[in-house]
Amino acid sequence: MVTGRDTPEELQWGGRFASAPDPALLAYGSSLGDDLFIARYDVACSRAHVAGLLDGGIVAPEDALALDAALEQVGAEIADGTFGAWAIAREFEDVHGAIDARVREIAGPAGDRLHSGRSRNDQVATTMLLFAREFALDGARGCLDIAALCAARAAEELERGTLVAATTHWQPAQPILLALWIDAVARGFVRAAERFARVASDAARFSPLGSGALAGSTLPLGRAKAAGLLRFDAPSPNSLDAVGDRDVLLDFVNACMRAVLTASRPSEELVLWASPAFGYVQLDDAASTGSSLMPQKRNPDPFELIRGKAGALIGAYAGAAATVKGLALSYHRDLQETKAIVIHAAHDAIASLDAFHRAFGHVRFVHETMNGRAGRGYTVATDLADALIAGGTTARDAHRAVGERVALAEAAGRDLDASDLAHLGIPGAPLDAQASVRAKRTAGSTHPDEVRAAITATRDAIAALVQTLPAFGKEPS
Ligand code: ARG
Repeated sequence: MVTGRDTPEELQWGGRFASAPDPALLAYGSSLGDDLFIARYDVACSRAHVAGLLDGGIVAPEDALALDAALEQVGAEIADGTFGAWAIAREFEDVHGAIDARVREIAGPAGDRLHSGRSRNDQVATTMLLFAREFALDGARGCLDIAALCAARAAEELERGTLVAATTHWQPAQPILLALWIDAVARGFVRAAERFARVASDAARFSPLGSGALAGSTLPLGRAKAAGLLRFDAPSPNSLDAVGDRDVLLDFVNACMRAVLTASRPSEELVLWASPAFGYVQLDDAASTGSSLMPQKRNPDPFELIRGKAGALIGAYAGAAATVKGLALSYHRDLQETKAIVIHAAHDAIASLDAFHRAFGHVRFVHETMNGRAGRGYTVATDLADALIAGGTTARDAHRAVGERVALAEAAGRDLDASDLAHLGIPGAPLDAQASVRAKRTAGSTHPDEVRAAITATRDAIAALVQTLPAFGKEPS
């Protein structure tokens, strides 16, 4: 029979086995390296379980005290790094077994009572929800920090009146205020923060703890007590669903992926804007890297890496979804693979958001170049067509008439000018980028008053979310 003294030490299930597992297979099946990131959430989960055991009269008060003190010590050892070293030096399938073993070492006989009525199935599910809840809140804060920085920079550029030729298909389209672009970036991050907040809230709904392996327990576990201590709304209502459900974790990985996807789009633009061909922005030395060969190079690596990480995170989400696809209800060992995906997605997303925040703070807009090019490439042509339409011309005729003037100007190698306006019969129409922006009339447009209102609304949305965020994670504000 395999006992606690056989290698690997501290198997939680040796009773019915005659020999120890093949060490290579045990190593293959171990998630310990990644799991150390979730160790402290397991301790929180385990302490709540002890409270549930005491609540149900399943362990004596002195045993509950001993277990709780041991778990508190493990928590301290996790924080100072000694637990990680202790666990890695031994062989464990996962951090849950390692913590159980360390508790038994510290608490003595009382330690053998920790796992009463508990399966690693409800334990893992609960631990991962605690992890997702906290990192979803971190992700939301990271997004809101970026949004706030963007709002501040948008307000600055609005005051300066900086213009830029906005593009579609990367072709000059229409002049806009740079502030409209920066506010658009901010809005993407507000939405990303909202997605994270919803995930945090969902992760705090139902506590799987006390669902056992899949069918619940014959022991009168204090499920409500444990759920309350972990700040869940309620114990999960279906034990079979609770242990195998990974929906919130998929949503969390999706929110991570979507946030970095959001960051990848302005990153793409900033990479191009930083190239001498555009010359719209300069990146401080602090956010640039050089070439080991070409002495003149100055590369916007952080923004390129963010684009790259977005791709990797799409892969992470696809991997998590594929792991769950077609998996029958309840627990299957495949689900162990979702833990590493969630942990790495969380770290990649938080790091990428921080990198975007830092790197964007190092972006210097080259105002003369942006302003100088905003009206180039016939970007006011649409305004001229609009002026004709306002005078009663049909859209098709207006489009054709202005298109013909553009073709003529292009052939002559000049911009649209007063002669074009005279020919079209619209002398008052805007010819330069500044006038074009000021001529806009619709709500939400690039007119300075509308951009000012948009920035105010963005700031209001950020402030509202900052205020409600703790409640999403069920934290006292
Ligand atoms: N190592 C597993 C994990 O981390 C623990 C769950 C094991 N459950 C089981 N029935 N074998 O997901």
